[in-house]
Order: sequence, then structure tokens, then C-alpha cells
Amino acid sequence: MKLTKIIFASHNAGKIKEIKELLEPYGIQVMSALDMDLPDVEETGTTFAENSLLKSQTIAAQTKMPCLADDSGLCVDALNGAPGVYSARYAPNRDFAKGMDKLLSEMEKSPDKSRKAYFSCVISLAWPDGKYEIFEGRVDGMIAREKKGNFGFGYDPLFIPDGFEQSFAEMNKDEKNKISHRGRAVKKLQEFLKNL
Ligand code: IMP
Repeated sequence: MKLTKIIFASHNAGKIKEIKELLEPYGIQVMSALDMDLPDVEETGTTFAENSLLKSQTIAAQTKMPCLADDSGLCVDALNGAPGVYSARYAPNRDFAKGMDKLLSEMEKSPDKSRKAYFSCVISLAWPDGKYEIFEGRVDGMIAREKKGNFGFGYDPLFIPDGFEQSFAEMNKDEKNKISHRGRAVKKLQEFLKNL
């Protein structure tokens, strides 16, 4: 089935703009939950895939249209995978400068080998009949001992991807997208759309 219209289950203006730019070249018109005044679906799952699917399947069932959603976060070895699906809520009042200070203080005594971490992103595409596709992206790296850089968002200043010396916040958008969890998941989605 050729996909021409899709709903993106997000109220985040930054993510909406990014998804529109990525899918329009494929002839797909993207309408967001924000544009359509649809409710925000609560993330009650315990995995990225569960939360992503919860959002895409709920909105696909409500609107009877194909729907895209994503969920992402940072998993740190020394914290047994936390903050994980709670990455946004881990930062007090969604203040990520405070969230990063909290992370650094919880990891204060961690040896270098347990500072390993990864970002994960799960994009799901749900059809109104309940069928779905999942596209996952992951990037491995380390949590730095101090914040570095001013680009990006969230925990970027603390994340040094494997094979690099700079943090995500010291890379420009294109450099980060090439290796990031979100960039990798989106690439898989684009491959799928190309072959539809
Ligand atoms: P959500 O996917 O909108 O639920 O947000 C997950 C949270 O994970 C964000 O609020 C950020 O704190 C964090 N996060 C996800 N991806 C990134 C990234 O690329 N850089 C920095 N933080 C991220």
C-alpha cells in the first residue's frame, strides 16, 4: 500500500519539524497529534518499544489512519540501565542541566569501565488494523566526568559516542544524526518507506 498521509503521535514541535522534513521527500504528508488536537498518550510502558507502540497504536485506532511514534532515552551501565524510559522524567522539572548534575553525582564513585552507556530510539509505525513495524537505533558510548558543548539537547553534553572524543553537544546536527540512535532508526524507516 502506498503511504501518502501519516499522523505523528507527538506534541513536541522540534520532533514534528524533523519528521516532516524527513518524510516529505517520500511524498508523505505528515500531520501531528498537535496539529490535530489529539490527546497526549501517557507513557506507561517499561520499554522503549512498549511506549512507542502505545502511542502509535492508540492514535492509529482513534483516527483510523497510519500513525508514527517514537520513544528514546539514555541507559547507563553504572545505574543498571537507568534512567532508560524515564530519561525525560529523571531531570527535575525537565531541567536537563539539573538532570545531568544528578547523573554525575549518582555516578561519582563509578570506575571508568562502568561509565558505559547507550542511547536508544524506537520508532513504530502502526496501521489502523493493529499491524505494526518497529525501527530501532542505538549508539554506544561513555558518560563524561563533566558537561562539554552547547549543541543538541537533553543529555548530549555528557555523552561521548564510541570512537569519538567530543560529546554529542560538541557535534553539529548533521554529524550527530549520522551516528545517533534517532538517525539510525530513521534510516531504517526511510529504507522501509522506499520499498513500500
Ligand atoms: P522522549 O523520547 O520524548 O520520551 O524523550 C526521551 C528523553 O531522553 C529526552 O527528554 C532526553 O532527555 C533523552 N534523550 C533522548 N534522545 C536524546 C538525544 O539525542 N540527546 C540527549 N538526550 C536525549
